[in-house]
Amino acid sequence: SLPSASQSQSWLKYVSLGVLVLQTTSLVLTMRYSRTLLGEGPRYLASSAVVSAELLKILTCLLLVFYDHSFSVRALNRVLNEEILNKPMETLKLAIPSGIYTLQNNLLYVALSNLDAATYQVTYQLKILTTALFSVSMLGKRLGLYQWLSLLILMTGIALVQWPTESLGGPYSTPLSAGSQLVGVIAVLIACFSSGFAGVYFEKILKETKQSVWVRNIQLGLFGLVFGLIGVFVYDGERVRESGVFQGYNSLTWTVVALQALGGLVIAAVIKYADNILKGFATSLSIILSTLISYFWLKDFDPTNVFFLGAMLVIAATFLYGYEGKRPAINHSKV
Ligand code: C5P
Repeated sequence: SLPSASQSQSWLKYVSLGVLVLQTTSLVLTMRYSRTLLGEGPRYLASSAVVSAELLKILTCLLLVFYDHSFSVRALNRVLNEEILNKPMETLKLAIPSGIYTLQNNLLYVALSNLDAATYQVTYQLKILTTALFSVSMLGKRLGLYQWLSLLILMTGIALVQWPTESLGGPYSTPLSAGSQLVGVIAVLIACFSSGFAGVYFEKILKETKQSVWVRNIQLGLFGLVFGLIGVFVYDGERVRESGVFQGYNSLTWTVVALQALGGLVIAAVIKYADNILKGFATSLSIILSTLISYFWLKDFDPTNVFFLGAMLVIAATFLYGYEGKRPAINHSKV
């Protein structure tokens, strides 16, 4: 028998969350590696990578809309006209999360160029709390006592997982000055607020209107492209004139770009089929995964008992949150 609509939605929910765990894990490892590995010639421009990812994302979403309409060029044309061009005010709404995400995407490169991966990750976890606060205030989401408790346990767990241990000097360790440390932390803190707000704003638009998630993503991406290009010329105009937009790109750069584009797609799916708070849990699980990878594979990290305690707390928090989530009392919003 065919699965019911709600069954296939919950299937998509777990698949999208699972893919997000894998995507986040690979992105943070390759991004940090690509920014610190010194090759020959100039390092690639982060602002240009942000734009490339945006372009790739838009192209993929166009393909997905095309697929949704059985590869009919006429239908694609009609959807793009009706949903995007002929609804300028609807489209303009997406400029807000898009502008914030562009700022955030650039800030995260600043952060990862100035902080080690562990400090970056632990500080960025504050976005779980900012996201919960914005979900409550903007979406009217109600969280039970156990859910707030699980968020606190989650944050504690992540702090323990990321508790600084002695670095073994793998490919991710670069000497950092106190000044650049401060710049990095400030960048992450701003990103926490922007992440919470933009994510919840996008969720609100997605769940309160009927346009498909891919159409919404094209609208978001179009603004992202414009803002991103402004970023290229403002930050890196001089360097672009000297050596071009794609200077320093190598296969690792393209991997980061592809992972970031994939991230945009998966995050949109997670926001649609689950929500922004569950997205935070997926990211937390990915932190444990990337730490384990850096231990077993890259050998630049030595897990302690504190790490294992933290990992247990994160996993326990995930179950505690999901357990409460099954109760109908918090099921306020219709997708
Ligand atoms: O850290 P955070 O989870 O807030 O990051 C969200 C990321 O997902 C940002 O890089 C943003 O550009 C991207 N995104 C996207 N498309 C969406 C929602 C988010 O590309 N619909």
